[in-house]
Amino acid sequence: MAESSGVQVVVRVRPLNSKEKQGNTVPIVSSSSQRNEVTLIRGLGPKSTKHTFTFDKVFNEFTSQQEVFEQTLAPLVTDVFKGFESTVFAYGQTGTGKTYTMEGEIDIPNEAGVIPRSCEAIFQRLTDSRYSESSVRVSYLEIYNEELCDLLVDTAKAAALKICEDVSGKVVCYGLSEFPVTSTTEVLEILRHAQARRRVGETKMNKFSSRSHCLFSLSVTSKEVVDSGRIERRGKLHLVDLAGSECAKTTGAEAGRLRESQNINKSLLTLGRVITSLRDKTARIPYRDSKLTRLLQEALGGHSKTCVIATLSPSIMCADETLSTLKYAEAAHGLENKAAQAFVRMSAFGEPMGDGTEIGDARTFSEMEQRMHYMEIQCEEAQAALGRKHEEVATMLERAELAESKIDGLATSLNLAETQLREQREANDIMVVMPAFKPSTV
Ligand SMILES: Nc1ncnc2c1ncn2[C@@H]1O[C@H](COP(=O)(O)OP(=O)(O)O)[C@@H](O)[C@H]1O
Ligand SMILES: [Mg+2]
Repeated sequence: MAESSGVQVVVRVRPLNSKEKQGNTVPIVSSSSQRNEVTLIRGLGPKSTKHTFTFDKVFNEFTSQQEVFEQTLAPLVTDVFKGFESTVFAYGQTGTGKTYTMEGEIDIPNEAGVIPRSCEAIFQRLTDSRYSESSVRVSYLEIYNEELCDLLVDTAKAAALKICEDVSGKVVCYGLSEFPVTSTTEVLEILRHAQARRRVGETKMNKFSSRSHCLFSLSVTSKEVVDSGRIERRGKLHLVDLAGSECAKTTGAEAGRLRESQNINKSLLTLGRVITSLRDKTARIPYRDSKLTRLLQEALGGHSKTCVIATLSPSIMCADETLSTLKYAEAAHGLENKAAQAFVRMSAFGEPMGDGTEIGDARTFSEMEQRMHYMEIQCEEAQAALGRKHEEVATMLERAELAESKIDGLATSLNLAETQLREQREANDIMVVMPAFKPSTV
């Protein structure tokens, strides 16, 4: 069974964090989840340039973790039950929300990311009586410095991992453990252990960030009974939390780190080239150029669906990396820039247009103007989110009213039944009592 494949590209802009807010950081990325647009403004004042990109979906601080799941992973979970293999990548600079999107805060239900939500959706579906048998297995692989590591077993006990082809020509990771799981709770326990094993290194950007690529895979086998027999389907879902996309030079990396970054970039660059080669249908797809792409060869190039979640920070401090992430995401999407590079003139009161020299007050004014622009868009987005919440509340109220009217109806029926029962009892009593009062005819 074949279905059209394609790369869905979504962008998620994280909110300014408390440190950035305190530091009065200028936000330069605005996003519209209504128009699915992200706009990056580079430079302040008359020399600023505006880049607008359109994607399949755009999420921002008003998008909940559940909404991100519903609009990205939920359709892929359905595909897994059709026997397809799908892959989701989180791509972006360190500290922009890749791990938050993938795993999230696994102990806080509202903050859980797409991995626990996908597991929940899979186990929920498997409760359907149409599935006579099923099994779910998970594996968690880390690619660090182009070396492979099994995150589900202790390093001391781990087998040497190797990428090779099985007898059918399928690329597999030889030695990687797969654990059977029967509930989301079990998966969360596995995630907690894996988190502890993830290698983290300290850089100037974010000391908790990981510079490894993490590939969480879920294999689902389901057997369904139909009139003419049984159907067995095997689907797979790969959820990949990529290493930070920043270059070595922006992270203050030194000697050993530099080698690390080059390797990480090699995997990321190869992934980008694979995606564009697939889109352009070129003769040679460079799967073999990195471990990550070789492993995901089947998921990327077969009849599978790919979703890239590009994560961004709105801060001016991340401008270069944000533009590079947007361009990477755009290449994966294959879309033209909506307004490739519009030139926007802004000028402070009394400042001559066009000479481009910025001094003291003019700069402050431009920054204020930029903050105001950001706040206006945030305001629009907040209103739209509020509108969606209002709709949800209205639907819930409607359902509550319906339930109330049903309760009223049931209460009336209950009263009626009680009255009838009482009347019946009284009639019976009379019938029993009657003979005792019957005067003797003797
Ligand atoms: N969309 C978001 N909403 C709220 N907090 C976020 C969001 N994205 C990221 N964060 C927070 O920002 C910090 C960095 O996110 P993280 O996922 O670790 O980044 P990355 O994995 O890309 O390095 C974390 O504290 C995380 O909770
Ligand atoms: Mg991370």
